[in-house]
Amino acid sequence: MNDSSLFAHFYPKPGDIPAEFDLPEPVTQTEYLIDGELRHWEGPMHEVTSPVCLETESGCSRIVIGSHPKLGGKEALEALEAAAKAYDQGRGTWPTMPVQGRIEALADFTYRMGQKKSEIVKLLMWEIGKSYQDSEKEFDRTINYMEDTIEAMKELDRVSSRFVIAGDIIGQIRRAPLGVVLSMGPFNYPLNETFTTLIPALLMGNTLVFKPPKFGALLFRPLLEAFREAFPPGVVNSIYGSGSEIIGPLMASGGVDALAFIGTSRVADTIKQQHPRPHRLRSVLGLDAKNPAILLPDADLDLAVRECLLGTLTFNGQRCTALKILFVHSSLCEAFLERFSQAVSGLKIGMPWEADVKLTPLPELDKPKYLDGLVQDALAHGAKVVNPNGGATTETFFYPAVVYPVNESMRLYTEEQFGPIVPVVPFDDIAEPMRYVVESNYGQQVSLFGQDPDALARLIDPLVNQVCRVNLNSQCQRAPDTFPFTGRKDSAEGTLSVSDALRVFSIRTLVAARSDPLNKAIITDIIRGNKSNFLTTNFIL
Ligand code: G3H
Repeated sequence: MNDSSLFAHFYPKPGDIPAEFDLPEPVTQTEYLIDGELRHWEGPMHEVTSPVCLETESGCSRIVIGSHPKLGGKEALEALEAAAKAYDQGRGTWPTMPVQGRIEALADFTYRMGQKKSEIVKLLMWEIGKSYQDSEKEFDRTINYMEDTIEAMKELDRVSSRFVIAGDIIGQIRRAPLGVVLSMGPFNYPLNETFTTLIPALLMGNTLVFKPPKFGALLFRPLLEAFREAFPPGVVNSIYGSGSEIIGPLMASGGVDALAFIGTSRVADTIKQQHPRPHRLRSVLGLDAKNPAILLPDADLDLAVRECLLGTLTFNGQRCTALKILFVHSSLCEAFLERFSQAVSGLKIGMPWEADVKLTPLPELDKPKYLDGLVQDALAHGAKVVNPNGGATTETFFYPAVVYPVNESMRLYTEEQFGPIVPVVPFDDIAEPMRYVVESNYGQQVSLFGQDPDALARLIDPLVNQVCRVNLNSQCQRAPDTFPFTGRKDSAEGTLSVSDALRVFSIRTLVAARSDPLNKAIITDIIRGNKSNFLTTNFIL
């Protein structure tokens, strides 16, 4: 069922890339930010290639789009030292600054970042193959997140700007920073997901070392200058290189107080275990997931096809929140597979700059080979690829494969494919998908498709105790960013949302006193004289 013309003229030839999307020349980044200084690296460099290939007479290969430093453990430790110096055991300028001051610095940074939009969006598109349209959305969503975080910080400060009296004790309770945060985002949302931890951590008064993801590192280059200008020296430090070489020494030093990491649970465990005193480490983790959709016998098929298409194949299925397995009631399978396959055929494939393109090349090296391995394993265990062109590959591109019927003997049943494969499992008894959810190692979200309120209610109650978001007739997703985003089991540690993120990167701390005349006089004097940035009733308007 494969169309031989599917990949005809798929990759561009020299001269085919529209000038407005092209990178004039490879980006050679030698600089990295430590202690308020843009240092220049003269050591080994990491070559950055795009998932987009170039077709030439000598063959087709990934386009080299630049290079960045490959730092070593020594430089990583210098970055950590700078962050620790800026924090200065909580006595630094940044952690003791009035909240209003930190808000102004972040607003300044947000403005500077806005000026770099076109450069960042283009790099995002080239580095990870996300469509230009979605790369722009990721940028805008991040700016909105930053603005919303500022508002949430003001609100948090306002509610803390009063005294609490309980019995004869008077107190003021606020949130204070944790210390030095190591922040590492994922390649699929390199800007947005890095910033959903980095920004709240900063605003709460922590200092930072951040390592951009393996794919999606050059896009931070236009921001290094903005970080340097907007924040005091050492508050933000950037490191580049191989995680196994630069993260180990940081963790082993014991100097990291909080780890913000989005990636696999295997890597998260390795990183955490390197800390000599694990009880001193706060972890905020977004990890693996295998979110299922369950289509009940009365599901509205048009709606289910639409949402499952978005859920499984948005950004080629490379979302932690993607629907990664579909349980379809046997009575619906035939109709669902036919309509779903048709819908997949309607998705435009191509280069990320093409208008309305939905499926694009994949950044991870050898990913098509890995995905093909999953499909071959399913075929060997009795499944079929049911959609035209399903599983066809060319270089870095993998055409979505709808695989049916999937069962527990196949790798696709439990393994997180993180790519464009849609495993479909038929079921007769609702106990089957429910058992899947209970026995799964993951517990992020689930989507339920059906119309009977009684049947849905019977599933909602047990499912909310298995996962952290039950979506009704809707795909799984993180958005809106004001909603809590977390997971059970191997899927997450800590909860993120605009307001929750401010909480996870801080700890409650208070000043309390017996409410006697001496203490009242002291507190009044401190407040009237504006003598403390913590003990204050100043109200941010
Ligand atoms: O990969 C995980 C992202 O946070 C997904 O966000 O579900 O709102 O697209 P989203």
